Amino acid sequence: MSGTTEATAAGEVTRILEPGPATAGAPRSARSEPPAQRATWAEIDLDAIAGNVATLKAHASAPGLIAVVKADGYGHGLVPSAQAALVGGADRLAVALVEEGRALRAAGIDAPILVMTEPPPEAAPALLAADLEPTVYTAAFLAALDAAASGGPPARAHVKLDTGMRRVGVPEADWEDALRRVGAAGAVTLEGLWSHFAVADEPDHPFIAAQAATFERGLACARALGARPAVVHLANSAGTLHLPETHYDLVRPGLAIYGLEPSPGLAGDVPLTPALAWYSRLSLVKRLAAGEGVSYGLTWQPSAATTLGTVPAGYADGVVRALSNRGEVVTGGRRVGIAGRVCMDQFCVDLGEHGGRAGDEIALIGAQGSARVTADDWAAWLGTINYEVTCGVGARVPRRYLEGGRVRPSGPSTPEAGGGGTG
Ligand SMILES: Cc1ncc(COP(=O)(O)O)c(C=O)c1O
Repeated sequence: MSGTTEATAAGEVTRILEPGPATAGAPRSARSEPPAQRATWAEIDLDAIAGNVATLKAHASAPGLIAVVKADGYGHGLVPSAQAALVGGADRLAVALVEEGRALRAAGIDAPILVMTEPPPEAAPALLAADLEPTVYTAAFLAALDAAASGGPPARAHVKLDTGMRRVGVPEADWEDALRRVGAAGAVTLEGLWSHFAVADEPDHPFIAAQAATFERGLACARALGARPAVVHLANSAGTLHLPETHYDLVRPGLAIYGLEPSPGLAGDVPLTPALAWYSRLSLVKRLAAGEGVSYGLTWQPSAATTLGTVPAGYADGVVRALSNRGEVVTGGRRVGIAGRVCMDQFCVDLGEHGGRAGDEIALIGAQGSARVTADDWAAWLGTINYEVTCGVGARVPRRYLEGGRVRPSGPSTPEAGGGGTG
C-alpha cells in the first residue's frame, strides 16, 4: 500500500495511508453521497416522518393530530418536517416560538399553527399577523392579544391549564378567573383548552392518573362557565402511545413523529421509523504504534499497534465532547470506539486491525448492515435523553432530505447548506 510518512510529536514515524475506494461493507447506500462542501451530513427521511404521523393518527382514539415541530423539528428541520407531517395527515402544527410559526408561514404552510408558550406581550401583533394561534395563561398576555386583535379577525386562543407540570399554565386556583377573562375579551375566541403531562413516559407513575383527573376538573370548570373550546388536547407522544383515555379531540406528539420512543419500549407494537441518520467519511487513516497518545491531552493510547481514523466532525457540529473515549460509531459494518478527546471540528476512532481507508463512510447515528448506533445509544453514553441528541445535531451539519428514497432537490424550503435551518 502506498503512503507518505509524517513525524509525530513523539518523534516517531507514522504512516499516513492514502485514500482508496470505499472499503467493502462501508457505504450504507448509493444515495448517501455527501454534499460537495463537507464530508459530514445528516439524512432526514421525510417518508419516515409522514409514515410515523400516519401510524400515530391511526393508533390514536382522537380524530386529529397536532404535530410538534418546534426546535427545528427536533433537529430534523422545521419546514421539511412540518411538510412531511402534513403529508402524513397531521391536522395542525405546534411550535414554541412566534419566529418558528412565521418561518412556517413564509414557506407557504397554511395549516393551523399553535404557539405553545406565551411570547412577550409585545409579540402579540406579530403573532396575529402570521395567523398563529397563541397559548394563553396570563392576564397580561391576554390583554395584549385582545388589544392587538381588536378591529381584525378574532384571536383564536388555546388556554393552557396547569394540571401539575407547574412550568407554565393557569394554576387551578385561577382557572375560573382566566376563563371568564377570555370569555369577556371581545377580540379573542376560545379555540382550545389544553395541558401537558409531566410523567407520561413513566407508564406506572401514579401522577398520570392524578393529572388526567385534574384536567377533567378543568374541563368541568369550563363547561360550568359555558365555555366551549373548539378543541381539547392533552397527550404528548407518550400519552398518544399508551394513554388512549387522554386523547380528546387531538393528540399532540413530537418525538414519536420522528420515529423515537419517549422511553424504551413505550411504543410497544406501534411501528415507528427513526427519521434521522448522521454520516461522515474518514478524512485520514494512519497506523499508530503502541503507546502513542491521541488528540488533546493525549488521553487515549493504544496498548498495541493499531489503525487510527480521523472523522471530520466535532463538538461544534454536535459531537458532544463528553463522548471522548466513550462513544462509538459504525464503519466497515462494525462499531468502533472514539479514541481520545473530541475536538471542535474532528475526532478520532480506533479502527483496530480491520483498518479502513480515507473516504470510508462513518455512521455517527445510523446503521451499516446489522451494526447500528442510535440516538438512544448517545443518550445512554451522555446521561441524557434522545430528544436532546437529535436537537443537538448542529446547524453546521448539512441536512439532506430523502423523499421517495431519493434526495429531495434543494430549494428555498429545503436548506442543504448550514442545514437544519427553518427554510
Ligand atoms: C407543551 C408540549 N406539548 C407537546 C410536546 C411534545 O412532547 P413529545 O415530544 O414528548 O411528544 C412538547 C414537547 O416538549 C411540549 O412542550
